[in-house]
Amino acid sequence: MSTKPRRVTTHSLCQMKHSGQKISMLTAYDFTMASLLDQAGADILLVGDSLAMVVQGHETTIPATISQMVYHGEMVARAAQRAMVVVDLPFPHGQLGVRATLKTAAKVMKRTGCHAIKLEGGVEQAETIRSLVAAGIPVIAHVGLRPQSIHALGGYRVQRDGGRLLGDARAAEAAGAFCVLMECVPRELAKQVTETLGVPTIGIGAGPDCDGQVLVTHDILGLTLGRVPKFVRTQVNLADQIKQAIDQHQAAVRDGTFPNDSESFN
Ligand code: KIV
Repeated sequence: MSTKPRRVTTHSLCQMKHSGQKISMLTAYDFTMASLLDQAGADILLVGDSLAMVVQGHETTIPATISQMVYHGEMVARAAQRAMVVVDLPFPHGQLGVRATLKTAAKVMKRTGCHAIKLEGGVEQAETIRSLVAAGIPVIAHVGLRPQSIHALGGYRVQRDGGRLLGDARAAEAAGAFCVLMECVPRELAKQVTETLGVPTIGIGAGPDCDGQVLVTHDILGLTLGRVPKFVRTQVNLADQIKQAIDQHQAAVRDGTFPNDSESFN
């Protein structure tokens, strides 16, 4: 009899921080990839609004909608046996004030079956985070480079304001966020935040001293067709392997060797 693995929780992630065990968070947008990542032992599957770029081909995360996040979130939640599933609140739904954000977050949780919500911001989101947590919705706060504010920030660049980063991270923790995600910040600042907070930190482009790391899975697998950021380590070139496999298949179709006898019904 196969036993169900024990689910990763806000509590177990906190224990991981305090026992020095690194947390692995990866993006997932569909059932197959989420199943593979879950089987490979990812601790958190993030249904990121990066799906607007990765799945839909947009230039920013801004076009992602609530119904798209629900559509993808539901597939990922169905696949994950062990991993915690976190869904992003897309622009501008995390920034619409306490009541509207609470309503949307509750809808996303109810419809997808996810275990937590991620929203961008720190100090200015404290009241919203507090009300979500009070309603039973675990929250990850995304600070540093906030992709939904990319136009206001003037582009994808390293965020060097240490006072702001520390203030945002502290405010998020004080408001009840169970985890703080830092994007594109100098490693020394990320280290300082990680040492200051009691809750785990997860970094992307934030150096090695965070309690965990997150990357866009397509970047790791070599499935991103454009340029990947400096902080990505691509482990395999699946784009080339896919093209090669499809070339072989099509060659067999065109020269008539596919399907053969054993691939046909008699
Ligand atoms: O949307 C996303 O996938 C993210 C991660 C890259 C952190 O926010």
